[in-house]
Amino acid sequence: MKYLSSYFTFATAIALLFSFDLSSADEKFVQCLYNYPHITNSISSVVYTQTNSSYSSVLDVSIQNRRFLNITSKPQVVITPLDVSHIQATIICAQRHGLQIRTRSGGHDYEGLSYVAGVSFVILDLINLRGIEVDAENKIAWVEAGATIGELYYKISQKSKTLGFPAGECPPVGVGGHFSGGGYGYMMRKYGLAADHIIDAKIVDVNGNLLDKGTMGEDLFWAIRGGGGASFGVIVAWKINLVSVPSIVTVFQVGRTLEENATEIIHKWQRVAKKFNESITMKANMVRVNSSKSGNLTVEAQFQSLYLGRVDDLIPLMQKSFPELGLVREDCTEMSWIESILYKAGFAKGQSTDVLLNRTQLIGLLFFKAKSDYVRDPIPDIALEGLWPFFYEDEAQDAYIQFTPYGGRMDEISESETPFAHRSGYLFHIQYGVYWQQKGNAAEQRHFNWIRRVYKYMEPYVSKSPRAAYLNYRDLDIGVNNNGYTSLSQASIWGFKYFGNNFYRLACVKTRVDPQNFFRNEQSIPPLISERDRMPL
Ligand SMILES: Cc1cc2nc3c(=O)[nH]c(=O)nc-3n(C[C@H](O)[C@H](O)[C@H](O)COP(=O)(O)OP(=O)(O)OC[C@H]3O[C@@H](n4cnc5c(N)ncnc54)[C@H](O)[C@@H]3O)c2cc1C
Ligand SMILES: *[C@@H]1O[C@H](CO)[C@@H](O)[C@H](O)[C@H]1NC(C)=O
Ligand SMILES: *[C@@H]1O[C@H](CO)[C@@H](O)[C@H](O)[C@H]1NC(C)=O
Ligand SMILES: *[C@@H]1O[C@H](CO)[C@@H](O)[C@H](O)[C@H]1NC(C)=O
Ligand SMILES: *[C@@H]1O[C@H](CO)[C@@H](O)[C@H](O)[C@H]1NC(C)=O
Ligand SMILES: *[C@@H]1O[C@H](CO)[C@@H](O)[C@H](O)[C@H]1NC(C)=O
Ligand SMILES: *[C@@H]1O[C@H](CO)[C@@H](O)[C@H](O)[C@H]1NC(C)=O
Ligand SMILES: *[C@@H]1O[C@H](CO)[C@@H](O)[C@H](O)[C@H]1NC(C)=O
Repeated sequence: MKYLSSYFTFATAIALLFSFDLSSADEKFVQCLYNYPHITNSISSVVYTQTNSSYSSVLDVSIQNRRFLNITSKPQVVITPLDVSHIQATIICAQRHGLQIRTRSGGHDYEGLSYVAGVSFVILDLINLRGIEVDAENKIAWVEAGATIGELYYKISQKSKTLGFPAGECPPVGVGGHFSGGGYGYMMRKYGLAADHIIDAKIVDVNGNLLDKGTMGEDLFWAIRGGGGASFGVIVAWKINLVSVPSIVTVFQVGRTLEENATEIIHKWQRVAKKFNESITMKANMVRVNSSKSGNLTVEAQFQSLYLGRVDDLIPLMQKSFPELGLVREDCTEMSWIESILYKAGFAKGQSTDVLLNRTQLIGLLFFKAKSDYVRDPIPDIALEGLWPFFYEDEAQDAYIQFTPYGGRMDEISESETPFAHRSGYLFHIQYGVYWQQKGNAAEQRHFNWIRRVYKYMEPYVSKSPRAAYLNYRDLDIGVNNNGYTSLSQASIWGFKYFGNNFYRLACVKTRVDPQNFFRNEQSIPPLISERDRMPL
């Protein structure tokens, strides 16, 4: 009898324990958010669980690559914070209840790492944190992480016609991911990267503390300007220096097919584009087209350019240093800097700048995969000629290979100034990309196969040891924190490609600010721990 009663007590205790445990980790997580002290705005209006009717639309709205639209790994909860306290609560409660966090600003990550994870996780989506304050007089701005570069350009143009910012081309890209990974556009040769113009930042760390430049420590402030934000905390806002732009700039895009001597022109481009006056950035974008003469397939090199000056100065410069292109006045258009942003984003002349505020883009309806490379010495003509047939394959219908010249300001910044190590010594940067529309695994494999073969083919002609890559062109092919573990030696495979010798320093910063490796993903910086102490991913 005595045994029996103690047995019942024990059983009751177990039952109680189990019934308590029946509420799942995500329910407990949500309860934790609701009970979190010091919440400023009500948090209950920004918490989307899987049963909420708005869950899918909130999740999908910033998915910019159809490869990740219908995948089964979905977050338990999406939180769209209205203020810092919501971020702090999410970070603390997620740790307490064993959920990982993925932070999303614009959702442009090429491998979807801001919203896909093969584990139980929640998304902190900063779409509501997108305030921008431009102080034109002092040429500075505060930009919240969930703002897009299009919104930033728009706000700058409302205040001044002669201020701009050297970030990317595609307006819906988020400043949270873009600036923390480097961020470049048509003013890179004149002004360097977006990250080079960050003068302060606000970040919430793993303990829920809101830090700025003064309190986060120099090493963390260094790390988030090119080392990616996702390994270190949640970036709330950036303070940036704006740059001067002339009131009139000149744009042009001229195409030359193989029949029009594209190979010879690229031969010359490789030798001059890095040395042009830094006010000229001329990309060479290779795509497949139908030859207007024969109707056969051919490759067209599109020379896409911005000149921070007038056409009258540009033409003689081009005639002198790049006559092979045969640029004429009629190819060129003068416009304001903000109009050049619209032009580069593909909007028709005369479009209102309001389109920069549109966060939706049609590209999100396509499947997409990309890779990147860096080039130190010109690619021989014979190698280019071997590259062109790749464009005639079925998978290359919507493929591109884009060369972006370095030089100018990029030559003046040392490799260790920020984690973005790819500076002097490079002639240009390559991006390979392929889009497709067919659903399914077979189509995906065919297009993956195409771009991987191109990448393999290019190996002899690009940077080596390491074969450098651009973090913002995220590519999980170059290595992941796999086997369920993050270890320094595994991570160094991709880490040296993205960051060169800065990788080790990034791991040191990580060790100081997040030693337990809470903020992690397939390519996050691991803390320095012994192999035996590896953290499950
Ligand atoms: C159509 C298109 C055009 C592009 N054009 C350019 C270009 O011209 N120049 C260029 O340099 N790059 C370009 N990119 C690449 C772009 O810079 C990167 O994809 C960048 O990381 C996107 O930032 P995001 O905030 O939109 O992405 P997200 O997917 O939201 O985030 C990217 C990464 O940063 C992390 N992250 C995001 N926000 C935060 C935050 N607040 N705190 C901490 N971590 C955060 C995410 O977790 C993820 O790991 C382009 C990409 C696309 C798809
Ligand atoms: C869905 O979540 C939002 C944000 O928390 C909330 O405002 C809304 O009432 C929820 N809708 C339903 C049907 O539960
Ligand atoms: C995703 O699923 C929906 C509904 O099942 C379907 O209509 C849509 O075509 C799918 N999209 C992709 C990209 O597979
Ligand atoms: C291509 O180059 C050849 C030889 O240099 C030249 O004769 C020809 O006119 C060029 N073609 C075009 C379309 O520029
Ligand atoms: C580049 O051109 C501008 C005028 O467009 C000139 O002011 C500047 O000095 C030139 N830079 C170099 C390095 O020649
Ligand atoms: C090129 O030609 C093919 C076959 O004739 C045609 O289907 C395709 O639409 C053409 N592409 C362009 C860009 O004109
Ligand atoms: C077009 O392609 C066909 C088949 O490859 C080839 O025989 C023909 O010479 C090409 N025409 C031109 C003008 O290049
Ligand atoms: C935003 O852009 C998308 C894609 O181009 C378009 O379909 C949509 O109509 C635009 N929205 C607005 C409000 O202009």
